[in-house]
Amino acid sequence: SGKFFVGGNWKCNGTKDSISKLIADLNNAKLEPDVDVVVAPPFVYIDQVKTSLTDRIEVSGQNSWVGKGGAFTGEISVEQLKDLGCKWVILGHSERRHVIGEKDEFIGKKAAYALSEGLGVIACIGELLEEREAGKTFDVCFQQLKAYADAVPSWDNIVIAYEPVWAIGTGKVASPEQAQEVHIALRDWLKNNVSAEVASKTRIIYGGSVNGGNSAELAKKEDIDGFLVGGASLKGPEFATIVNSVT
Ligand code: 13P
Repeated sequence: SGKFFVGGNWKCNGTKDSISKLIADLNNAKLEPDVDVVVAPPFVYIDQVKTSLTDRIEVSGQNSWVGKGGAFTGEISVEQLKDLGCKWVILGHSERRHVIGEKDEFIGKKAAYALSEGLGVIACIGELLEEREAGKTFDVCFQQLKAYADAVPSWDNIVIAYEPVWAIGTGKVASPEQAQEVHIALRDWLKNNVSAEVASKTRIIYGGSVNGGNSAELAKKEDIDGFLVGGASLKGPEFATIVNSVT
């Protein structure tokens, strides 16, 4: 449902030199036209990326402050992301939840603020390994999804990224069946708790050890509408392969 969406989350990686090479590779890549492609560089390189990357690819922040900017040392505001030309922001990433300690309610507020200022939100959710093993995958994902639903007035500009924490950076990609099972459950949740229209229109993308070798099989699944890619998005040709795995 919706146009295929592939995001590259560069996380806290890169230098001016490595990023200039990655930009050149992305500018040279042949990308399927019918795919939304977005990259999320570290804040300090966004201007460099916006200046030299093709307009074919949109740019995202990896996080944003919960409200208007001001005396918030170390934070980056939504207004600043927009000023640099970003169209998107990634919120609720597992590394911000589990390494930095952001909570559902705070993440929901961030999403509402970013949307109110016109940024698209890549809204991340996903369970820990121990939660999966305890049979709590759906409970955890629904609770995280509900925090967004409770906070946002509209789903028009949101992409949901399901990223099981055990699959992130581990090389242990979810099987297409494991991912599909959660994606369809999320869509059902939206149908029952938001609306049938939002359920059918909202893109639900998968993240966690996606690479050029496994993306095509995942992309065949009915409810997988794209990917959020970490490590493999740092390699231009491989990222292009993932973008082009749209079916
Ligand atoms: P990896 O693709 O490196 O597993 O990271 C996924 C991710 O966290 C994207 O946001």
